[in-house]
Amino acid sequence: MILEIENLELYYGDAQALDRVSFAVEEGELIAIVGANGAGKSSLIHTIAGIVTPRSGRIRFRGTDITGQPTHITCNLGIGQVAEGRQIFPSLTVMENLEMGALLPRARGKMRESIAQVFELFPRLAERKSQIAGTMSGGEQQMLAIGRCLMGRPELIMFDEPSLGLAPALVQELFKTIRALNRRGLTIILVEQNVAVSLKLASHAYVLENGRIVMSGSGPELLNDDRIRNAYLGI
Ligand SMILES: Nc1ncnc2c1ncn2[C@@H]1O[C@H](COP(=O)(O)OP(=O)(O)OP(=O)(O)O)[C@@H](O)[C@H]1O
Ligand SMILES: [Mg+2]
Repeated sequence: MILEIENLELYYGDAQALDRVSFAVEEGELIAIVGANGAGKSSLIHTIAGIVTPRSGRIRFRGTDITGQPTHITCNLGIGQVAEGRQIFPSLTVMENLEMGALLPRARGKMRESIAQVFELFPRLAERKSQIAGTMSGGEQQMLAIGRCLMGRPELIMFDEPSLGLAPALVQELFKTIRALNRRGLTIILVEQNVAVSLKLASHAYVLENGRIVMSGSGPELLNDDRIRNAYLGI
């Protein structure tokens, strides 16, 4: 197992955001996490990344306990995330943004190689490497956010609603990219409002409700489940 989550409980003050969340991710898997607004999806990603600290429970990455470890530690172990709302540095150029992604000790020595890989994956970023990132289109900024994450040479990437605000054609491109990254061996946790597509891609999926996993199964299993179809697919 690349990631093991055991009985995770997270509170913001008195408000509980995660309630005894447990699951495990195998190396090379693509798993989906589905749930309504406020269900706790981003909180789960933030807890794994070390942005927030759980009250109890355990997180292990490749067998190492990383519970409560700060982000620079989890990142340097190979846990990357593409945050909700594409967090890039808007006043820096595309190239500078990518370089910032490679500041981790694990990635520093491989910067040239990583840039070549990112430019191969996203030729558009190569064409625009001197452009100020904040002036790029929404779709281009999303590519940059993914590119910057890849510069850190992650082994596990957590995507938080990457398709938000993208036109349908770009959403298709984005999912192709995510699948391609997974085929190259990257383990992926995908949180998506686009439930139908994410369940199609996922080998395993979990449904979060009020901070609790209420259902799990293979992507196709959940896609055919009446409760999921009613609640998340509107069919
Ligand atoms: N920093 C915070 N301080 C206090 N409460 C928070 C904080 N972050 C999230 N919450 C609360 O925790 C709950 C879970 O939020 P979270 O952002 O994890 O949901 P989500 O599933 O990602 O929702 P969405 O689909 O809208 O992004 C919500 O009730 C939210 O208001
Ligand atoms: Mg969220």
